[in-house]
Amino acid sequence: MKRLAVLTSGGDASGMNCAIRSVVRTAIGAGLKVSGVMRGYRGLYENDFLELNSRSVSGIINKGGTILRTIRFPEFKNPDIQRMCLKNLKENGVDALVVIGGDGSSRGAFSFHKNFGFPVCVIPASIDNDVYGTDSTIGFDTAVNTALEAIDRIRDTATSHERIFVVEVMGREHGFLAIEVAIAAGAEIVLIPERPFTIEQIIEKLKKDRQLGKVSSLIVLAEGAGRAHELAKQINEKVSNAEARYSVLGYIQRGGVPTYQTRCLATMFGNQAVKGLLEGLDCFMVGIQGNSLVGVPLETVVSNNKRISEEKLKIVEEMAV
Ligand code: ADP
Ligand code: F6P
Repeated sequence: MKRLAVLTSGGDASGMNCAIRSVVRTAIGAGLKVSGVMRGYRGLYENDFLELNSRSVSGIINKGGTILRTIRFPEFKNPDIQRMCLKNLKENGVDALVVIGGDGSSRGAFSFHKNFGFPVCVIPASIDNDVYGTDSTIGFDTAVNTALEAIDRIRDTATSHERIFVVEVMGREHGFLAIEVAIAAGAEIVLIPERPFTIEQIIEKLKKDRQLGKVSSLIVLAEGAGRAHELAKQINEKVSNAEARYSVLGYIQRGGVPTYQTRCLATMFGNQAVKGLLEGLDCFMVGIQGNSLVGVPLETVVSNNKRISEEKLKIVEEMAV
């Protein structure tokens, strides 16, 4: 193996730059050349490659976003489009591809390997933390901390005005982010797409909170479970003497300076990705399970769904008494 290519794909996550830096520096240290591919799978298709060296990745360890840019490119599902990507990789002398992205990007990498046998490694990066086979993805810890900082501020005004607050966090399909945020923010209720709920259950809980002497309550809502403004409206209509307000945290959760945890994870993942490829692995994802760095077959990653933790959901309930 003489040359690697690296790209970022799907929703950006803080720490992607740390991972790029780690891939580049590990590869260069091992005597390899590195190509960066701009804008994910679209750059592969459009032959948008650039040479990366150790200095190309200087000064990015603390920068959110991705210097390689990212995009959704649904056309990559088409084998003819993939064939053109293969041709471009070969013409650029690339022997293996490192994909930094989430669940969708992993599916893309797996299908590319399956169709053409090209060596691929995925580095999981997503604020959703919805990738099977790794306890945590790059950017997740940063997003949790960003949401927490915002909620701590909201808590001040919520308490002062004795209000119920609905805070909507990201997570179109999954509630991993919402659950961690709810535990750490001390929320009374967490609502996630994986767990159906009724408005009556929420109203009942809020009324009970009032009887218990709570003057304000916090509901953390994953975006895929409903809309914050609608829930706040229903609460205002159905809970007498209560004032509900809402905040949608939105894209602030995706950007910003990566935390210590995110930076270390990204650096270890990038390093392990290159080492795994050098050892001959050709279709895998790097991940962390407990305290161990692992290599997980991509087939396992894409054929399983990560489950939310029932224990963690229960902890939210047990703390809200
Ligand atoms: P994420 O990687 O953050 O989950 P997406 O789900 O948007 O983000 O996926 C990123 C990109 O991965 C898509 O725009 C597409 O290029 C590629 N992709 C996703 N699913 C597949 C698939 N089943 N086959 C091929 N490519 C895919
Ligand atoms: O990065 C994942 C995610 O944040 C989802 O939770 C969210 O719904 C989605 O990306 C929105 O991203 P975009 O607007 O870029 O499609």
